[in-house]
This record gives sequence, C-alpha cells and structure tokens, in this order.
Amino acid sequence: MYRTHNCGQLRAADIGQKITLAGWVQKSRNLGAMTFIDVRDRYGITQLVVGEGAEASLKEAADGLGREFVIQATGTVVERAAKNPKMATGDVEIALTELKVLSRADTPPFTIEENSDGGDDLRMKYRYLDLRRPPLQRNMMIRHRMAQSARGFLDREGFLEIETPFLIKSTPEGARDFVVPSRMNAGEFYALPQSPQTFKQLLMVSGYDRYFQIVRCFRDEDLRADRQPEFTQIDCEMSFVEQDDVLETFERMARFMFSETLGVEFGAEPFRRMPWSEAMARYGNDKPDLRFGMEIHELTDRAKSRDFAVFNDAEYIGAVCATGCADWTRKQIDELTEYVKRPQIGAKGLVWVRLDENGDVKSSVDKFYSAEDLQSWASAIGARQGDMIFVVSGGRKQSLRVLSELRLELGERLGLRDKTKFAPLWVVDFPLLEWDDETARFYAMHHPFTSPKPEDVALLDSDPGAVRANAYDFVVNGVEVGGGSIRIFEQELQARMFALLGFTPEAAQEQFGFLMNAFKFGAPPHGGIAFGFDRFCSLFGGSDSIRDYIAFPKNNSGRDVMIDAPAAVAKAQLDELCLVSTAE
Ligand code: AMO
Repeated sequence: MYRTHNCGQLRAADIGQKITLAGWVQKSRNLGAMTFIDVRDRYGITQLVVGEGAEASLKEAADGLGREFVIQATGTVVERAAKNPKMATGDVEIALTELKVLSRADTPPFTIEENSDGGDDLRMKYRYLDLRRPPLQRNMMIRHRMAQSARGFLDREGFLEIETPFLIKSTPEGARDFVVPSRMNAGEFYALPQSPQTFKQLLMVSGYDRYFQIVRCFRDEDLRADRQPEFTQIDCEMSFVEQDDVLETFERMARFMFSETLGVEFGAEPFRRMPWSEAMARYGNDKPDLRFGMEIHELTDRAKSRDFAVFNDAEYIGAVCATGCADWTRKQIDELTEYVKRPQIGAKGLVWVRLDENGDVKSSVDKFYSAEDLQSWASAIGARQGDMIFVVSGGRKQSLRVLSELRLELGERLGLRDKTKFAPLWVVDFPLLEWDDETARFYAMHHPFTSPKPEDVALLDSDPGAVRANAYDFVVNGVEVGGGSIRIFEQELQARMFALLGFTPEAAQEQFGFLMNAFKFGAPPHGGIAFGFDRFCSLFGGSDSIRDYIAFPKNNSGRDVMIDAPAAVAKAQLDELCLVSTAE
C-alpha cells in the first residue's frame, strides 16, 4: 500500500498513529539538527520532520530531497510545537521513520505554490506543473462539481445524455469552422461542430423529448479571455415547450448549481427578464452587469439646444452618472478619457460635468452651456450634488457601446463589481436578424433555426429588421453564460428564413437538406439552450479568464505551447489526404 492517508487528512485526533503518506516535496528545510519537509498532494500539505537523533541514513535521505521529488514517507503523527492555524493539518507533523524516493525531479521552471513566480508563457508550456498548484486544482474541482450537479439535475428532470458526432458538416453558428480532411474521400472535408445544434434538433424529431450533452464545441474565431477555440457547452433541447417552459427549467438548473456548488441562494422572485431593446437602451449592452446601477440616459434632445457643434452633429447623446465622483482629479478624468479613446472602444472624447458639494456646476463644455442647462441634464439623469456626469456623443450604436464600456469601467474603479455577488438575468426578445452594412444582407442574430415571435411574423416581408425572435440569453454579472431559442419546426417558415438570409433554395437544400427533410416526417415544436460551461465555471470561481478552468487550454494565438500544436505534418501524410502544402 503506497499510503494510509492523504496529505490533507491528518488532525490532532490522529496523534500517535503510525501512518504513510505519498506526494510531492513542496519544500525542504535543513535547520542543522532537524530537517522539515512539506509534502503535497491534491488534498493538502503535511509537514514531515526528521528530528535530532534520527538515523544518519534517514537524515541524509531527507537532506537529499529536491523540490517536486515524489516520496513515500512513513512515521508517527505528533503534536506540532509551533502550530500553523493557516494549514488544515497545521496542528500535527509526522516524525519520520522511513523515507523512500519514488521519483526524482529536475528543478521545476517555476515555484509550484499557491502563488507562482512563473510568467504566463512558461506556465502554459509546463501546464502539467501549473496544474499541480492549489489554485488550479481548486478550479478543476469546481469544474468537476459543477458538471456533476448539472448532470444530476438534468438526469432527475428526465433529460437523456446522448452523444453527437464531431466529424460533421459545417453548422452555421456564425464563426469559422475547423475542417478535417477525409482520407477516404479525397478532396472532401469534415467540419468540427460549432455546436450540436442540428443534431439536437434531429433528436427531437426522433422523439427523444429531452436531450442534454456536456460537449466540446469548436469555433475558429479570434480569442479573448472568455473565448477558446475549443470550449464546452451544457447543451440541452426539449420538445413540446414554449419559451417560458425552457426558461423555467433552466432557471431551476442554474439555482440548483449555485446552491450546490457555491451555497448561493436567490430569493423566491423569478430571475429578472429584460427585453433586448431595453438592455441596449439602459446599459448599451445585451449582457448588462446588474450588480450596480449607473444606467445610461439619453440626452439627445436636451443637449442639442445650444451651439456646440459636436453635439449638434451627433445622432445620439447619452450620459452616465458616476455617483459620488465630483472630487475626481483632472488626472483621473484624463485617465478615463484615454481609456474610452482606446481603439477597441473608440470614443472620440468625453464631456464631463461636475456637481460640486457646494452646488457649483463645472464642465468641460462651460463655453456652450449655462449652469441651468447642465443642471437640467443632471436632473434628467438623476445626478445629485457630489456626482460627476460623463457624456458621450456620436452615432447611436457606437455611443451606446462607448457608454457601456464607460459604465463597466466606472463600476470597476468604484469597486461595484464584487465577484462574490451574482446578478442573474434573462435577456429576451432578441431581434431575429441583424443587418450587416459591409455585405449588405441580413444575418441570423442567433442562428437560422430560431423562430420569430408569432406576433411579428407578418413583418418578415415588410420590415425584417424589426422582427423579434423567441431567443434568450442567460446573463450573470455581464457575462453571457448561455443562449438559446425556440426553433422553427415548420418547413415553409424555415424555407422563408433561409431565403431571407440569402440562401437560394438549392444552397439551403445542399447545406441543410437533412434537417428540412427530417421536418417532413413529423417535427414536434421544440426549443433549447446551451450554457458556456467554461464561462459558467470561471464565473463561479470569480475569474475573468476561462483558461484557468480548462485543464489544457490554448493561448491567445490558438496554440497549445505545451504540445506545440498546431504543427506541420509530413509530406507523406499530406499526400495520403490529397493535400498540397503551400508552406516553404
Ligand atoms: P451560442 O453560440 O450562443 O449558442 O453558444 C452558447 C454559449 O456558449 C458559450 N460560448 C463560448 N464559450 C467559450 N468560448 C467560445 N468561443 C464560445 N462561444 C460561445 C457562451 C454562449 O452563451 N447552438 C446554440 C445554442 C442553442 O440555440 O440551443 C449555441 O451554440 O457562453
């Protein structure tokens, strides 16, 4: 037997027991007559001690240990002279009687402790060592717990876990596909699924009624902290449901996961629901962070009344109130202005209005507006003495984007985005279609299988851009955790939708013939949702980066620097796949 206990288990109650531990040497200190060794496994750390009077060979073995050696240590549990209340095992230590090195280790490239001294790149290259660190081990445990609680909930609700293929044909989720050449079908390619969307709909046609899968999805898109090229969804679909049924079911799942994994309970009130148009107008964003207020207020009519050309030429003028920020220095204002002027956000400038405690009003546009004008803006947006107002102008869409970023940054600077608080929200009534100026055509905002709201179907011909969809997102703290829709299940409506999206009947048949044909054989009304599982985990863990919750993630250029992928393949392999390399 390699061990009798793990390294996080022993307590004062075990004093006197003879035990054996196995694990990694975190550090070892030779204090002359005595040597202390911290041994670690995923359960914790225990201190081993070779005391005065120990056999010379044992002392020698202990002093020969290096960091990350794998050892087996046998000894007696004794009470520690200097207890360490920060460690679960801190009341005891092990008086060593036997020590065996199971595996030697080179000096690791960075310290494997709670906080590491290794940079990002180095830790990614040696991911298996980074994964030994307690923070990452805790993240993997959260992920495991969350997967178990989702699976348990869905199983109890009658959902069947069914696997769908990875080698498929392109699915239209809006990103680029990863493609895989087929050796047996020269010149032809599979696509890896961006989601199991069409398959889960086929499973509904097949009568499975309730399906789920914790499934890998692949999207070739630009990466950010909350995006990976391969990521995991909790993918679900239900038959004979309307939007309310789906929201009700998955609200219960979310509540269950919050409660089971984090001990977080929400009140009896259902999660808030907000139409997309309201989210955009009040927060400039379809995934608003509702942990704090500071909503956006439109000032277009009010602020256009004087001869300030920048505002007069603007399609939209809007403001947010930075509560209690009247004492901000010039430097703080300049910093915020630079922040919103970064190319990713793209503001041209930021107008500020300061409402001093003593009732004075000052602004960066004093030349154009009287104190009364500025007071009228303040009262329109509910700002009071002691507050600062920031105003942005320009095109409507662009200005709302800037205001949204400004609001989030202010929330950050004012400490209003507390990671231990959760503000869940359903965003509903998304537009069905999104117009793209560049290609001068409509795109499906969610995907082409999403159904229009029945009361808006009449607008499909006259004003397609105004049609709302039976589509919804689950948003928590400004993170889009999940999204789904009620699907089209009528052949004619689906054909109309493809036409609106610019597919010829032939192209639609070629790409989605299998689904449209399936609908000829009795399709039930159905709908579903997919949660971004990695995002869900990072939200629970209080991190902004999903990478910390994926055992082996890719870096921002889509590379796995540990295994060094992607990589070139041998010419023989290309020949077999009938591919020609254009690389030199
Ligand atoms: P959607 O495209 O909205 O819907 O994806 C669902 C959820 O998956 C997460 N997500 C990602 N997470 C990490 N990295 C990515 N690159 C990434 N892309 C998406 C998000 C998102 O909310 N088939 C539909 C679902 C449905 O209609 O049932 C779909 O995939 O959290």
